[in-house]
Amino acid sequence: MIAELFHYLTTPCSWRMRKWGYLSESIGISSRYRRCQKEWQPHLSRTQEKIVQFLQAHPELRSVLFCGSGAGLDIPWSSRELQRFERIVLVDLIHPWSIRWKGVKDSRMELHSVDLSGVIEGVEKGGIFPEPVIDWSPKFDLVVSLNLLSQLPIVPLEQMERRLPTASEKELTRWAQRIQQSHLEKISEWGKFQLVISDIQEIWLNRAGEIVERQDPWYGAHWFDPEEEWEWRISPLGESDSQRSKIHRVGVSSLSGRLKLSEIKGHSELGN
Ligand SMILES: C[S@@+](CC[C@H](N)C(=O)[O-])C[C@H]1O[C@@H](n2cnc3c(N)ncnc32)[C@H](O)[C@@H]1O
Repeated sequence: MIAELFHYLTTPCSWRMRKWGYLSESIGISSRYRRCQKEWQPHLSRTQEKIVQFLQAHPELRSVLFCGSGAGLDIPWSSRELQRFERIVLVDLIHPWSIRWKGVKDSRMELHSVDLSGVIEGVEKGGIFPEPVIDWSPKFDLVVSLNLLSQLPIVPLEQMERRLPTASEKELTRWAQRIQQSHLEKISEWGKFQLVISDIQEIWLNRAGEIVERQDPWYGAHWFDPEEEWEWRISPLGESDSQRSKIHRVGVSSLSGRLKLSEIKGHSELGN
C-alpha cells in the first residue's frame, strides 16, 4: 500500500493521466503481477519466447520499438538476441520507476511517452469520436505491439460514454475498432517488421470452472488469425471477484511482414 502510494505520488506523468486512471492502472498491473506471479508467469514467458523466436529468425534487426512497454514484464531482457540491438525504444503513457532505472543503466534504451490510441488529445478538446492522430513517425527494424491492442480503446470509451450518454453501442464499437485499426496501420508504417501480441478473447469462469461470460477485446473486428495462442490466467479466483476467475486468450501474429490496409480483415466492417 505504501509502495503504491509512493509510485502514485512520484511517477512522472501528466495530471490528465492521473485523472483518467492510466497511472493507477499501471501501478495496479505491477501490484497484480506481484500477487499473481505464479498464474501470470506462463503468459509472460510465452510472450518473451515468441519475441526471442522472431529475433532469432531475423538476425539482421538492430532497432526495436516496444509499444505498451509498461513495466516491461513481457520483454525478454536477458535474452542474447536482445543484446545485439543498438536501439531499444519503449513507448507507453506511463513509465514506472523500475523501467526508468533500467533505462538509466542501458544507453541503448530510450523512453517515449506517446498516446498510442491517438485520441486522448481529441477527447480532451471536447471532440466527439475524434479520429486517431499520432504526430510521430519513427522508423524501426521491428515494432512489437505488446499486450496493448485491446487496451487502447478502454479509457477513451469510458470518457466518451461519460461525455455522450446518448452514444449508441454501434457508434462506440466502431470508434473502438477505428482506434485499433489505426494502431495496426501505424505500426506497419513505423517498422519493417511487426509482431503483435494481443488478447483475443476474455473469459469469465465460475467457481466450478465453467464459462459464464465471454468478452471480445476486438469489438467485433477480426484483425488477424493468430499464428499461435495461449492462456493468460489474469485474475484468479478472489483477485477481482470472489465468485469468478478471468482468463484471457492471447494470440501472436507477425502480420506477415508488411501490412497493407486491405489485408486487415476488420477494415471492411468499418465502412458499413
Ligand atoms: C496490459 S499492459 C501491457 C503489459 C506491459 N507490457 C507490462 O509488462 O507491464 C498495457 C499497457 O498499455 C499502456 N497503454 C494503455 N493505453 C495506452 C495509450 N493510449 N498509449 C500508450 N500506452 C498505453 C498501459 O499504460 C500499459 O502499460
